[in-house]
Amino acid sequence: MSRRQFTYVLWACINFTTLLCVSAHFPKSINDINDNSAITDHVIPAYVIASAASNFLNSTLCEKELLNFRDSVDQQILWSLQMLDSSGNLQSGFLYGNNFWLGSRSQCIDTMNTAPLQISERLSLNSTLHRNPQKKIPPFEVNYFVAHFRHNSTFQYHLNLPNEDVITLGLCLPASCSENDISVILQRIFQERILLISNVFSTDFELVQVKNLRNDFKWLTGGTLTIWYVS
Ligand SMILES: *[C@@H]1O[C@H](CO)[C@@H](O)[C@H](O)[C@H]1NC(C)=O
Ligand SMILES: *[C@@H]1O[C@H](CO)[C@@H](O)[C@H](O)[C@H]1NC(C)=O
Ligand SMILES: *[C@@H]1O[C@H](CO)[C@@H](O)[C@H](O)[C@H]1NC(C)=O
Repeated sequence: MSRRQFTYVLWACINFTTLLCVSAHFPKSINDINDNSAITDHVIPAYVIASAASNFLNSTLCEKELLNFRDSVDQQILWSLQMLDSSGNLQSGFLYGNNFWLGSRSQCIDTMNTAPLQISERLSLNSTLHRNPQKKIPPFEVNYFVAHFRHNSTFQYHLNLPNEDVITLGLCLPASCSENDISVILQRIFQERILLISNVFSTDFELVQVKNLRNDFKWLTGGTLTIWYVS
């Protein structure tokens, strides 16, 4: 084999390997997705945070509870799905400036509510929600966090307003986690471009701040964030 042929074969092998790696990480079509985790691994921020906590928080209680949360989502245990469902995610209207991925703080806090939901027996009979009441309450205290981070996607229309590139993401996570714990994990996620939306909108993220919303509602009224949504 000539040197040139060898170089070509080497080049082809490297590209093929890269292709395999890329497709292993980012499913390109629905046919490539054969289990839930392929999607949740890269798409739903609260789950991505829980996964990225592995071996990253010095085995703190926060790390253990995040991994418990991740494993419970894999097993579709109700309390963990409630946490996932009340956490924020990419919203429609991103191109027009909708950077509010809020989720629901009250739903997050309500996962710890032990009072049974009043619902007629007939309706509740076939619902997965009511089959295992003992699986409804998380085995740890949860709390609602808000992460602010900048994106630099050129796919979003800009109006030159202050902080128009700041995304606000709501997260229902274990209360044992500190703002610093969540910040450290998010920085890793942004650095390694683990979130699929980085690829979809060609964007990097830069963390501004993580806030713990245990006792304060200031984030709702304060700040200079402005919603711009053009329909
Ligand atoms: C884990 O421990 C190391 C060494 O003590 C420290 O440098 C690092 O900041 C800790 N990580 C977190 C997330 O607290
Ligand atoms: C519950 O499921 C059974 C079997 O799938 C069905 O026959 C029944 O009508 C369902 N009941 C209600 C209230 O939907
Ligand atoms: C976005 O930020 C990253 C990291 O700072 C940089 O490498 C990339 O070129 C930036 N992209 C654009 C479109 O400005």
